[in-house]
Amino acid sequence: MMLPIYMDYHATTPVDPRVVEAMMPFFSERFGNPASRQHQFGWIAEEAVESARTMIAQLIGAETKDIIFTSGATESNNLAIKGIVEAWKQKGNHIVTVQTEHKSVLDTCKKLEKSGVLVTYLPVDEYGMIDLNQLQDVITPKTIIVSIMTANNEIGTIQEIEQIGKICREKDVFFHTDATQAIGKIPLSVKSSQIDLISFTGHKIYGPKGVGALYVRSSSPRVRLSPQMEGGGHEHGMRSGTLNVPGVVGLAKALEVSVQSMEDESNRLLSLRDRMFDRLTRELDEVFLNGHPARRLSHNLNVSFLHVEDNALMMSMKDIALSTGSACSTANPEPSHVLKALRLRTERLHSAIRFGLGRFTTAEEVDYVLDRVIENVKKLREHSPTYRKVREQSIFHSL
Ligand SMILES: Cc1ncc(COP(=O)(O)O)c(C=O)c1O
Repeated sequence: MMLPIYMDYHATTPVDPRVVEAMMPFFSERFGNPASRQHQFGWIAEEAVESARTMIAQLIGAETKDIIFTSGATESNNLAIKGIVEAWKQKGNHIVTVQTEHKSVLDTCKKLEKSGVLVTYLPVDEYGMIDLNQLQDVITPKTIIVSIMTANNEIGTIQEIEQIGKICREKDVFFHTDATQAIGKIPLSVKSSQIDLISFTGHKIYGPKGVGALYVRSSSPRVRLSPQMEGGGHEHGMRSGTLNVPGVVGLAKALEVSVQSMEDESNRLLSLRDRMFDRLTRELDEVFLNGHPARRLSHNLNVSFLHVEDNALMMSMKDIALSTGSACSTANPEPSHVLKALRLRTERLHSAIRFGLGRFTTAEEVDYVLDRVIENVKKLREHSPTYRKVREQSIFHSL
């Protein structure tokens, strides 16, 4: 086993060797610009881009022409929301989204609010789920788009995407989902769910960074979108700029590998994840799971270790890469907006650790991480007056 151990697969993933292999020829051998229509170099690059587009479309049950390549999910989210708002001004000026969305959705909405767009930020319950009745109630004749992520990047909660799609279709509003954390991990098809726009990115699925895509439904109904990047009219005029050919090829290969291995990989990660949580709760008290107990990504475990400050725990294990629920860049770490939206006890917000398992996580690594976490939580709690009080009270009650 090699140290340090990477257990932060929601932040990013290493590129799978099969993906690297698929990308390699497109850096220096087949380097053409896919927009060069007059010669072979261009044709070869264009062919690679179009077969990547077809592959991705097939994997999500879409039409080839519905896939637009971007620089990643941040750009896809911006293009989806700003593009719809601009194109459908005549119809309305209302967006519905959720408090626990990624910042690339929330900050896009905040910016649009400054120009007069109305935004409803739906709350979530303690598990991170939205209330479907509430969604139905907040949609008005002025609503043009509902943007709700498929699965959350911090707590792994999976929303009821099919029901949300149904509600949006009945109410005649577009449904956009940020599927960055879900695609390639759980089944996703635009045929079985009435999704109109999907954002995703390469680097969360063992593909390269700096490349992503936006699925834009082209029929029943056709989704019209205003481009946010003007230029040479690439991607049917919806996203100008020379395509990142090796990136596009890598994105398609990464998605293909992920979808093909999804079932086995998801079962493997689920058993590793359950083994982690079982041992944590067996060997430690005052441990709480954040997010939904069942409707969650199989590789996500977000746990609060009460009486232990999240950043202190991380700093005590420098040989393990994990993520905390609060930003440690400031003197007073602020809990993340996602954890805050769950309205949990304050102590749970400041003691949350996200374990993100992935394709290269082994049982040996899991056991090592468990040993270190259990040892360090116990050590840090020795200095915690609140933990001492809890222990004294429980001894008192057992007498
Ligand atoms: C849910 C979600 N949406 C969007 C993004 C942004 O993706 P990208 O890094 O490709 O811009 C991320 C990555 O952190 C994410 O987890």
